[in-house]
Amino acid sequence: MQDPFAGPGYDQFKKKILALTSLDLDIYRQPQLQRRLQSLLKKNGVSTFDGYFQLLLNNPQARLDFKSDITINTTEFFRDTDQFERLRTTFFPEFVERSSRDLRFWSAGCSVGAEAYTLAIMMREYFPQATFSLLATDIDRDVIKTARQGTFKPSEIQDVPEPLFKKYFRQRGDRYEVIETIKQAVVFHTGNLLRDPFDWGFDLISCRNVMIYFTQEAKDLLYQKFQHALKPNGVLFVGSSEMILNPVTFGFESAGPFFYRKTQF
Ligand SMILES: C[S@@+](CC[C@H](N)C(=O)[O-])C[C@H]1O[C@@H](n2cnc3c(N)ncnc32)[C@H](O)[C@@H]1O
Repeated sequence: MQDPFAGPGYDQFKKKILALTSLDLDIYRQPQLQRRLQSLLKKNGVSTFDGYFQLLLNNPQARLDFKSDITINTTEFFRDTDQFERLRTTFFPEFVERSSRDLRFWSAGCSVGAEAYTLAIMMREYFPQATFSLLATDIDRDVIKTARQGTFKPSEIQDVPEPLFKKYFRQRGDRYEVIETIKQAVVFHTGNLLRDPFDWGFDLISCRNVMIYFTQEAKDLLYQKFQHALKPNGVLFVGSSEMILNPVTFGFESAGPFFYRKTQF
């Protein structure tokens, strides 16, 4: 049987998807991406990329499912609790000591906002005197809309420590909403990490469970862009499967597992 990913149909599909959704399928690791695409075709009962594209064009729900299956929006508050504990005990105190005014944090690839709101809750709770701004961006317009609403499924808030849960969340039907002061602490924007220019001057960039799906080339590009976007001694925080093998090459030093400090200015 002919490999459907080897023919011109797949290349055409990738081009049309880029125009329709701004998703560049070439930045994803191909074996995993192809498995996800195959299962989407099967689930939707179509056998060709052309047929699948027509469906995506005409059916908004199929388009939403496609985007969420490809970009994988799964997230939760305090995802990998130990690492957030290190932020609280090691890095936040260091940032605050350096300057308790105008700290800048960025949740890059924020999905529906759980990570950004986690950072905001931690700052409000443990460093109430410090002032900070918190940017959160994602390529997916729909997750950004949900993020701004600030309501979450029970599975997304299960690791919030009880005292913080009581203080910072309110139940809304079968969902949980972060309180207004936390919502107001985060500015959400749509943005493509690989194509868009970055802001500058961040103390912390948290980019977790985003690069895992990217090719090595795309990761290397991002390491460089993040390095430029950090302040001197600023810190990049990555996901549990996203350790950087050669941080020095990109102007970072390891600051313990999953944290990298900008060393070259
Ligand atoms: C698995 S979620 C991670 C959410 C959160 N960082 C966490 O660890 O819980 C990955 C997110 O990265 C976003 N993403 C994928 N490619 C992106 C790109 N090129 N630019 C910006 N965001 C992207 C996806 O839309 C998705 O919401």
